[in-house]
Amino acid sequence: MHDVLIIGSGVIGMSIARQLSATNYDIAIIDRDVPGKHASYKAGGMLGAQNEFTEDNDLYKLAIESREMFPKLSESLLNETGIDIQFKDSGLIKIANQEDDLESLTRQYEFLRQMDSSVKLLSNDELIQLTNGNVEPAYGAIHIPNDGQINANKYTKALFKSLQQHHITRYYHQEVQSIDRRNGYYAVCTDQMSPIEAHKVIVASGAWSSQLLKNYSLPREVIGVKGEVLLLENDELDLEETLFMTNGCYIVPKQPNRFLIGATSEFNNYSVGTSEGGLNWLLDHASARVPELKNSRVLKEWSGVRPYTNNEMPLMDQIDDGLFVITGHYRNGILLSPVIGRDIANWLISGIKPPRYSSFSVKRRNNYEVYY
Ligand code: GLY
Repeated sequence: MHDVLIIGSGVIGMSIARQLSATNYDIAIIDRDVPGKHASYKAGGMLGAQNEFTEDNDLYKLAIESREMFPKLSESLLNETGIDIQFKDSGLIKIANQEDDLESLTRQYEFLRQMDSSVKLLSNDELIQLTNGNVEPAYGAIHIPNDGQINANKYTKALFKSLQQHHITRYYHQEVQSIDRRNGYYAVCTDQMSPIEAHKVIVASGAWSSQLLKNYSLPREVIGVKGEVLLLENDELDLEETLFMTNGCYIVPKQPNRFLIGATSEFNNYSVGTSEGGLNWLLDHASARVPELKNSRVLKEWSGVRPYTNNEMPLMDQIDDGLFVITGHYRNGILLSPVIGRDIANWLISGIKPPRYSSFSVKRRNNYEVYY
């Protein structure tokens, strides 16, 4: 019998396991694949703690706090595992690529600069200068110098290695079929013979979480939003900052001379693999903004599925005695993983829901409606 079983070995599940490994709990993690198959490993790795947010709420506060944890986290993962997650605080430029988007970008700028005076509106001359002449003039742009990025692939590997070193039980290639409450514990049935038993269970299965919790008929659900991504190589392009366009296309400079181009968004699509339409969309929008990208070599293309919830608010709650659901981080899973790892581990250890987490409850209230 484990003390805690975490279902899902993405960055959220592994960050919680890593934090819990400081206790003497018996911890296990289960995944239908091995780490490196799904959204975490496939992400662009931009932290984007400001460009995705337009109001000061609990999610925004967690995002900023989590981003601030990355410099130390990258150092401790390097010491612990020898893997460099390539944290870079090289900033982000958000660009309005249609006239209609200028108003919302300006509103976002007004909000962001109240929270962080380093956020600046850029003229086209400043935009071109900051990007070494590589970016075409736009309808508007803002510079978010405190943003950063990591290599999501290395981050996933580092967390995985850390779990191996902490002797956490790992069940891979086992698909969970049901979570059954017994007397004081849960029996988690998989496609293997005997159920896995644990006193506490954390469902951190991203876009697949709702399917595992069907019995609970949760008022808020998670659905998958597929994103396709491309990795290009270009020796001539000198660009440091992440570029994030208001149409959802982004360019994240990676080492060495590589540029990750993301990402399409297709709701309710859980399929794996890229499409001609998706790749053309990425190439067209990225090279319209940065023409030099047309001269790149395509190194890789892949896809992942983000866990989306209504109003984009994560779902982080205890839904039964000792059964937690921690998902719905949509476009922000990499960014939020350090703070969530810390907070959920503390919640389990202390039994006290962390401050701010009532915003993420299954029966959440917001300004507009009451869900249940
Ligand atoms: N965070 C960017 C994306 O989900 O595409």
